[in-house]
Amino acid sequence: MAGFWDYAMSISFLLVAFFCACFLPITAELQRLEHPVKADGSLSFLVIGDWGRRGHYNQSDVAYQMGRIGEKLSIDFVVSTGDNFYEDGLTSIDDPAFEKSFAKIYTAKSLQKQWYNILGNHDYRGDVEAQLNPILRRVDSRWLCLRSFVLNSEIVEFFFIDTTPFVDKYFLRPKHHTYDWRGVLPRKEYLSKLLKDLDSALRDSTANWKIVVGHHTIRSIGHHRDTRELVMQVLPILEEHSVDIYINGHDHCLEHMSSKSSNIQFLTSGGGSKAWKGDIGKLGQDLLKFYYDGQGFLSVELKQTEAKIVFYDIFGKVLHNFNISKGLFSTM
Ligand SMILES: *[C@@H]1O[C@H](CO)[C@@H](O)[C@H](O)[C@H]1NC(C)=O
Ligand SMILES: *[C@@H]1O[C@H](CO)[C@@H](O)[C@H](O)[C@H]1NC(C)=O
Repeated sequence: MAGFWDYAMSISFLLVAFFCACFLPITAELQRLEHPVKADGSLSFLVIGDWGRRGHYNQSDVAYQMGRIGEKLSIDFVVSTGDNFYEDGLTSIDDPAFEKSFAKIYTAKSLQKQWYNILGNHDYRGDVEAQLNPILRRVDSRWLCLRSFVLNSEIVEFFFIDTTPFVDKYFLRPKHHTYDWRGVLPRKEYLSKLLKDLDSALRDSTANWKIVVGHHTIRSIGHHRDTRELVMQVLPILEEHSVDIYINGHDHCLEHMSSKSSNIQFLTSGGGSKAWKGDIGKLGQDLLKFYYDGQGFLSVELKQTEAKIVFYDIFGKVLHNFNISKGLFSTM
């Protein structure tokens, strides 16, 4: 007797389940990775950007000094702010540029750590899916490149964001170059989902330090200046969630700016190879703490309540350094 009702119930249950699966908004969040801190609870890493030129334009000199400083600080990993391979990213997973510009350049022992890479606009001119392909880890196990992700390391949370799709000119004037927008279109949905995911990941974060990494500048007096799209769409989110540091590449220089409207420190590490553009812009609202038009990189040493940031040139000389102290983050 119960047969019909059981049957009807299971059908309606299936229909409800089917409806939910189809029509609920997709709530997949940013991919999350973990990296352990050192035994003493601290963490140190290097940041390099705009580098892959087969050793040319002082890339090998920068790599050598990264090896030395990396050893001294016994770094835990390396962060790349993008434009990993010039001029046009990788052509495929077999592109020899991967070895010639990465594997055979950053050969120092201290650099045989995890590399966390994001994509720059030049990477989007090649086969993006090649750089994202885990197969590259068989060629060099250090390699990890994702579009946007969260990296948790107890005292700090990093939010890596894919900034190239924000920039209108790559879409409005694509005649100069072709871009590989697979996985990005429709653009509006891609960007609104990324902003929403960034906002909720920052809101949920309980780490004492919050560091956001993207390829494009937010504040810069270098060649590209501020990236208007990021100032409008991303900066308010970083300010709302009290992000400590935004690190980018794109401008081929080393730079430190701070802001009058928040505590965010804006760091540019885009000196991995070709530099010396020589066209420095005018300073707007924000405060310029340091600008160097040549090649180099930066290091970050983090403890629970202290951060130490140092910029180096191709001779390993310290060009600029500063410390940040802050109390423990409270969720109340
Ligand atoms: C390499 O670095 C040196 C020292 O900063 C600089 O004088 C030289 O112009 C650089 N070479 C290139 C090709 O940028
Ligand atoms: C930052 O702190 C270190 C000690 O950890 C100190 O040696 C260094 O001079 C400080 N730098 C600045 C610019 O205050």
